[in-house]
Amino acid sequence: NMLLRGIRLLSTSASKSAFVFDIDGVLIRGNKPIPQAKTALELLNKEKVPFLLLTNGGGVTEKKRAEFLSDKLGVELSANQLVQSHTPLQILGEKHAYDRILVVGGVNDEARKCALEYGFQDVIIPMDIVKQNPSVSPHHRYTVEQLSKYTREVDLLKPIEAIAVFNDPRDMGTDIQVTLDLLNSAGGLIGTQRKVPTVHRSTPLIPIIFSNDDFIWANDYPIPRFGQGAFRMVVESLYKKINNCSEMDSLILGKPYAIQYDYAKKALAKWHVELTSKHGNGHVHSSGAFAQEINNPTNLQFNRIYMVGDNPASDIKGANDNGWESMLVRTGVYNNEPLGSLVALPSAGVHDDVLEAVKYGLNQ
Ligand code: G3P
Ligand code: MG
Repeated sequence: NMLLRGIRLLSTSASKSAFVFDIDGVLIRGNKPIPQAKTALELLNKEKVPFLLLTNGGGVTEKKRAEFLSDKLGVELSANQLVQSHTPLQILGEKHAYDRILVVGGVNDEARKCALEYGFQDVIIPMDIVKQNPSVSPHHRYTVEQLSKYTREVDLLKPIEAIAVFNDPRDMGTDIQVTLDLLNSAGGLIGTQRKVPTVHRSTPLIPIIFSNDDFIWANDYPIPRFGQGAFRMVVESLYKKINNCSEMDSLILGKPYAIQYDYAKKALAKWHVELTSKHGNGHVHSSGAFAQEINNPTNLQFNRIYMVGDNPASDIKGANDNGWESMLVRTGVYNNEPLGSLVALPSAGVHDDVLEAVKYGLNQ
């Protein structure tokens, strides 16, 4: 009958499209929610359309961020719906790719907690090094309280094997100094200096991973603010100066790069299965089919994935490059510049806000 047909149509179309939202400039700005965000997400929940949040932000665990956002937006979000800039590093953590790493960025020791949760065994933050010898960064900005509360006693004679920048530095001066010290160290040891190499000058002594390359991002200030990409530029230009070379090798994650979109696609497929089995029998982890689909999420292809973002250089470019549909909103970085001047054109249009974008997508 008509009713059944209607339901079938709805569930077919619902299972075939999915939404992915950027966070800063789309759902929130600073600590303030964007007014239309709650209704937009509730609408998708009502229609049972799966969605994920894909942000270049981070510095805390996915669980903590999901709790913060659930509270701010007034919509229940799962940690499994969140891909932050550093979330793919979980793969390296689980593999125990490095023995000891330096994690840069984020508030206090939150990023360390996150790295430990990913499976990294021995995680140092710049504050630990400052605590042991404040002269490493003579003008550091840490308080006595921070230095006692968030640091760990670490043996600095054990080498650091890699640097992972999880989020924007809070004490940029210290992070620049410690990062460059290590990139130019002898054997990854703090307080040592390698001889400037004659070949492979562009290769730092230990690898550095930047979790995003956002030059700017939108908080609650009227003009966009510098992001981690600006930190990368500073590190890189000092590295080039020190080593008298024209490049610095590094790995960059985050939007607009394929690695992030691939990761998010798998996360979305897993979330879709979790969502479907929740609605089905309430036993999310008990079904064999669930486990099978989780391990082979490519079986779950969406016809369309809509990326709703505010930054043409990250959200929109990445979506376009990876075969997703892109929608640009006016609530963040994008400031009504002529479309022709943008790095990437949104394939599914420009919308006033996230709610307009969701309504548009649902009607396609
Ligand atoms: O640090 C936050 C930032 O660079 C951008 O976050 O959510 O707009 O990708 P988002
Ligand atoms: Mg944004």
